[in-house]
Amino acid sequence: MLFELLKKRRSIRKFQEKPVETEKLETILKAGLISPSGKNKRPWEFVVVDDSAKLDKLSKAKPAGGQLVKDAPVAIVVLGREEKSDTWLEDCSIALTFMQLEAEEKGLKSCWVQIDKRPSEDGRGADVIAREILGIEEDIKVLAILAMGYPEQERPAYTEEDMDFSKVHYNSYGTSYTSK
Ligand SMILES: Cc1cc2nc3c(=O)[nH]c(=O)nc-3n(C[C@H](O)[C@H](O)[C@H](O)COP(=O)(O)O)c2cc1C
Repeated sequence: MLFELLKKRRSIRKFQEKPVETEKLETILKAGLISPSGKNKRPWEFVVVDDSAKLDKLSKAKPAGGQLVKDAPVAIVVLGREEKSDTWLEDCSIALTFMQLEAEEKGLKSCWVQIDKRPSEDGRGADVIAREILGIEEDIKVLAILAMGYPEQERPAYTEEDMDFSKVHYNSYGTSYTSK
């Protein structure tokens, strides 16, 4: 069952105007809140954004690859508290992924929009702009935005051809798994 969901999960960048039901959104957030983390530090915080003016501004925080945010009915901005854990990046990435998969399970589609380490138009950094828009303190990392909604676009599910076993080694690096 999970593998079927994983195959059909694709990044979707066009959404219907239809809002995401509160119950679904809350289950998605819960999926993030219970995801695994190094030493169980849970260094994440999430900002739910459904204010269309703010979504529009966020989409401009990162001109390359961020535009889709403005057409999403809702987005979850994933923040990390670096001082809480040296694995904040891994932990927050997993939390975002758990939420993405739960969204998929709820019949929604989504896209990860990277903010951390990405430039803004004025060169200050997409994270700096996102902090300004959402009133986030300077010491909190802004990892990414998970934009989601009901899809206005279809993309094909992954097939066996996409599963590249040349990347899988067997017992020693360089020994093909498929020749075992
Ligand atoms: C760390 C990370 C950052 C990403 N950043 C963006 C982004 O800023 N904008 C965007 O449109 N897609 C972004 N994506 C989505 C990828 O482009 C997408 O996952 C990839 O092309 C594979 O397509 P799929 O998700 O449909 O399998 C990001 C994905 C990851 C994992």
